Amino acid sequence: MAAQKNAQKHAKKTRIDVAVFPVAGRGTRFLPATKASPKEMLPIVDKPLIQYAVEEALEAGARRLVFITGSSKRAIEDHFDTDGELENLLLKQGKSDLLKTLRSVLPSYASCIYIRQPAPLGLGHAVLCAKPAVGDAPFFVHLADDLIDAETSCLKQMADRFDDGSVIAVQTVPHSQTDKYGIVKTGAKHGDLLRVETIVEKPKPDKAPSNLAVVGRYLLTPRVFDHLEKIGEGAGGEIQLTDGIARLMGDEPVYAYRFEGKRFDCGSKLGYLQANVEYALKHPELAGPFKAYVRKLAQGE
Ligand code: UTP
Repeated sequence: MAAQKNAQKHAKKTRIDVAVFPVAGRGTRFLPATKASPKEMLPIVDKPLIQYAVEEALEAGARRLVFITGSSKRAIEDHFDTDGELENLLLKQGKSDLLKTLRSVLPSYASCIYIRQPAPLGLGHAVLCAKPAVGDAPFFVHLADDLIDAETSCLKQMADRFDDGSVIAVQTVPHSQTDKYGIVKTGAKHGDLLRVETIVEKPKPDKAPSNLAVVGRYLLTPRVFDHLEKIGEGAGGEIQLTDGIARLMGDEPVYAYRFEGKRFDCGSKLGYLQANVEYALKHPELAGPFKAYVRKLAQGE
């Protein structure tokens, strides 16, 4: 018992070193914008979604960033690479603020690993592609198109609560929308976490076990790879991460965590626009004039 408690104490202190960003989806809901450029490079005001994602993972303690990429995703690698030519230009022009912004895209202590997913075979398959880079420690999975505005980043909230099993972020959604999400049914409380009893991918509203939906943040134990390796195609003919997690629940506890913060579904046009409006209304340079503009628009002027 004492040994178990000690192990839990130690687990709480473990820093999660690796964050996996599956970015190999084709983003068909944003075509034609996503024909030749990645959905994850779409900006929310002036920063691409993938940069918000990386900043969140760094805040949660991750240092190794693993991107699972696919065709037309080169711009993501370029974004996190140094651009000496542009830096020199800004230096010459005396634009030191912009130079600082450019250099802070990726701190020097972080390293990037890019793994190609040969075909978009599903989120579970994308996560499995990260196995050689993850090793045998717990790791984050972050879906950049779920943008979460929170005082403490969602991944950090999850890492702070990590104990003896994987943690997945959840939020309630309208019953009519259960077929857009992984849906969980939860049982016993474990601190701020809820033990997951059932998880199903995109159930129809009349079949859904609840309206508690999985959003794009996971803290997974490496044992999930054993299951992802074995499962075949699930819903939509893809290898589903949800199915891997469902099997993982047979080995060890999996918990749901209701995060604090506001989520924007930036994989949809409406959610993307809402995020832009709300982030612009908080932006240090734009808040004033943009608020005035929105007010005028609302008044029909
Ligand atoms: P989505 O379901 O949002 O798919 O994937 P998508 O292709 O990005 O977008 P739509 O639906 O066609 O508009 C959820 C996440 O899983 C990643 C995506 O990049 C996204 O972050 N993903 C999905 C992969 O990396 N590989 C896959 O095979 C599927």
